[in-house]
Parts: sequence; C-alpha cells; structure tokens
Amino acid sequence: MTRKIWLFDTTLRDGEQVPGAKLNIYEKLEVAHQLKKLQVDIIEAGFPASSEGDFQSVKQVATQIGNTSDIMITALARAVKGDIDAVYNAVKYAENPMIHMVLGTSDIHVEKKFSKSKDQILQIGIDAVKYAKTLMPQVQYSTEDASRSDFDYLWSTIEAVIKAGATMINVPDTVGWAVPEQFGELVYKLNDRIKNMNPDVLLSVHCHNDLGMATANTLQAIKNGADKVECTINGIGERAGNAALEEVVMALSTRGDYYDAHTTINKKEIMNTSKIVSSLMGLDVQVNKAITGDNAFAHSSGIHQDGLLKSRDAYEIIHPTEIGLDDMELVLTARSGRHAVRNAIQNLTIDITDEQFEAVFKDFLDLADAKKEVYDHDLFILVDNYLHRNNEASSFMQQAESFYVLDDLQVISNPIFPSATVQVSKGDQVRKASTVGTGPIDALYTALNEVVDLDFDVMEYKISSVTRGKEALGKVKIQVKYEGKTYIAKATHTDVIRASAEAYLNAVNTILVEQIVPSTIF
Ligand code: KIV
Ligand code: ZN
Repeated sequence: MTRKIWLFDTTLRDGEQVPGAKLNIYEKLEVAHQLKKLQVDIIEAGFPASSEGDFQSVKQVATQIGNTSDIMITALARAVKGDIDAVYNAVKYAENPMIHMVLGTSDIHVEKKFSKSKDQILQIGIDAVKYAKTLMPQVQYSTEDASRSDFDYLWSTIEAVIKAGATMINVPDTVGWAVPEQFGELVYKLNDRIKNMNPDVLLSVHCHNDLGMATANTLQAIKNGADKVECTINGIGERAGNAALEEVVMALSTRGDYYDAHTTINKKEIMNTSKIVSSLMGLDVQVNKAITGDNAFAHSSGIHQDGLLKSRDAYEIIHPTEIGLDDMELVLTARSGRHAVRNAIQNLTIDITDEQFEAVFKDFLDLADAKKEVYDHDLFILVDNYLHRNNEASSFMQQAESFYVLDDLQVISNPIFPSATVQVSKGDQVRKASTVGTGPIDALYTALNEVVDLDFDVMEYKISSVTRGKEALGKVKIQVKYEGKTYIAKATHTDVIRASAEAYLNAVNTILVEQIVPSTIF
C-alpha cells in the first residue's frame, strides 16, 4: 500500500485572495460543498479576523460542511490572540476543527516586517501555539517564508512549536523562491528531525508558483517525506497562485510508480470543481492549463490524431473520464489529417468510397479554413452536398436536412428593448423569430430557442478574442445541458454576435447528431 498524502485545500483562503475573486457566503458554501464531494481532507475556509463577513462564512462552512468527522475545517490566524479567537469561534462548530496560524521565520520577515529579534518572534510563536492549544487539540503552525529562512532558526522554531503542542507543521514557499531539488532536501531534513521527535506530527508544504514550479516543488516535497500538501483548485492564489490540486493529484495517480504515494481525492469531481470555482470566482482557466484547461484533452494535430486512432496511449497518459470529462476530443480543424476525418465520417455511419472521400476531404479543408472547427453535423452536410453536386444518390439527405443553418440575424442592443430577429433553415424549411430579452445575447438566444425544436439550458457563455486588434476574430464558447448531459460548442467569427448564434446552433446540431447516431464509436 502506498503512502496517503493529505490534501489541504486553500481555495477559499489563499485562492480567495486573488483580486476580484471574493465570494459571498452562499458562493463560499457552494464551493465548500463541492470540495467535500471532491473529498479533500482539510478545507481552509478563510481568514475570520479579516472581516465579519468572512467570519460568518467560515462559521457556516464549519457548521454545514464540517458536520462529519471525515473532513477537517480550518481557517487562518496570525500569531495573535484576536485572530486565534476569531478562528476558534468560527471553526469550533465543525466536528473536526483546527486552528492554523502563520508567523514568518526568514530574516526578511523577522527583521524587516516585524522589526523584532529572532528570539522575540520565536517566543510569540510559542505563546500563540500554547494559547491555541487551550482552545483546540489540532493546531497547525506555518513558518512563513520557510524556503528563504536560515535552517537553524527554522528548525529551532519548528522544534519549539511542536513542544508547545503544534500537531501539523507547514513549510511554505511563500514567494515561490524554491527549486525542486533544494526544496526536497529541506523537506527531507525537516521530516527526519520531526519524525524523530514526534512521529505523529504531520509535515506539510505550501508552494507558490512565481517561477512556475509550485507543482514540481510540492511533488518533490512528497517524494522527500511530506505528509500533507496545500493546494488550490486551478492553482489560483496570491500573485501567480499556488500548487494546483488537480495537477498534484493526477501526477500522483498517473506516476504512482515513481512517487509511491496516493490521495483519497474523488478524481471524477475534478472537472466539476474546476468549473464551479472558475465561474463563481470569475477566473478563467488558461486553455492549455494541465488537467483542467479546455485543451488539456483536445487533440488537433493530424499526426497526433492519426497516432491516437491507432493506439490511444500514443498521445494520451490520462483518460479524460478519470477526471469527470467525456471521452477525449478529436477536434477537426484544417490541421486534421485524412485518417481523423475518415474516422469521424465512419463513426457517423456514413458509408462513402475512397474516391468520394478524397473529394469530401477537399471540401472539409475549405470549410475548416473558414470555420476553424468542424463539427459532426458539418460532415453530414459536406457529404450530402458533394453527392448532390455530383448527382449521386444520397442516403444522407434526410440526416443532412435535420440540422439548422443560420441564414441571417439582426440584433439591437438598447437599454430598454434589446431585441433579436433570426432566420434559420432546416432542409427546405425556413423559420423566423423576433424576441426581446434582458440583453442582446439573451434576446438572440431566446429567438433561436423559438426556431429550433430543442429546449436546453445554457450553463456557460464565454467570449474571447482569438486574434488582436479591432478586427479580431472572436471565439464564443457555450456549455449547455440537455437531458442531464453537458455539451460544449464553439464558433469563431469577426462578428461576435454571429459567432454567438453559430455556437448556439452548433450545440443544437451536436445534440441532433447524437439522436441520429446514438453512440459514436471510437
Ligand atoms: O504563502 C504563505 O506563506 C501562506 C501562509 C499563510 C501559509 O499563505
Ligand atoms: Zn500562500
């Protein structure tokens, strides 16, 4: 059996320090509920001394989420009585509460931030732990800026606070200064001494990402004996953020052979958690972000798509379903090769000869250049158009006519009556609608909803620019829910309103493809 690593999630404390990411009490509870589903071991719910609002949020998290002994709830205090009391009074409602306190150990913190002597700071830390222990059995002590601290002073602090009753020692790389090899050596040395002193005291690390090494440092700490790691969802946090929980968890699970350690995280909830945190905090996830980025499981290069179709392990080390995503995404673009396009056509059970395919492939490349991403319904239409052009009998006529094509639209943005008129075709049928909405996109989507036969919920609407300047290509991505299943669709255009409409119709058409070809075989 490999070693269990404790997962301490600080999305609601360090993560919430990101400018603009502050959550209200209901949002905090929603994230905390999701963290419980994700099965983190410890939730750091906030910094109660910072405001009455934060105090109340932490108290509610302790009461509602901490009502079972299998999750620990904590919150942050400076090493002063007022902060420690605030944490105690907020987390005491949990079945398994802990006080977390922080005090710097580096010369910079001791001399410049506190203008005190090392002995004075050490005594403040000892007294704070002793006081916290009168309130609660579990106390974590964080030696802020540990990676830039003098080792002997760092150790004398850790030794003294353990004697005073600290049950967890957290070693933060507060400014992201550490490099993996050095940090690993530090953790190894500290762990050896701590375990000799008291094997029940857990050693933890908390790494920041200023040099892009937070995850690497955290993993190196695990390799060198750390029992517990502090992370955030999507790696959010102060400045460049913290070690990303999903990266650490998936590194341990994918490379368990090397790390010989595991977490008890419910990996299937990783993607849901990432989305909830991103949307509630208004912090987009970088598209190429490991594990939770939009492109983390999307393969677009022709060479890679060809390799994947021959054997998935050629270019895939994690199965997307492991983290709660649908199966992998082979995005059909102008760079997709024949093999991927041929395979997509076959999956749609469209039977064409090699000669027909060559002609369709040419049309595919033209469409991909114009549209950027080609969808399954586009393939039906491409094949049908080709067969029509050549007066060849098309057995796909019926399917190709099941999809909606945007003919035209007009959207008026105005504070009183934002309105939209749309016209779409479905085979020979032409449908029109005009509606008023709460804003231009709401009006547009309400109008589209009237002309299509499907009724789904738009869960997420995101617009971003693909190129620069005022003629930038805008990319719209929407996520919709239909009969309990989530579908993502995108569209790119210089006219972002048109891109919004096309993204909507791409979602509708994707659902329709599934109704025609219920299970795409991969
Ligand atoms: O980065 C840091 O040092 C912290 C401590 C409070 C653990 O966030
Ligand atoms: Zn931090």
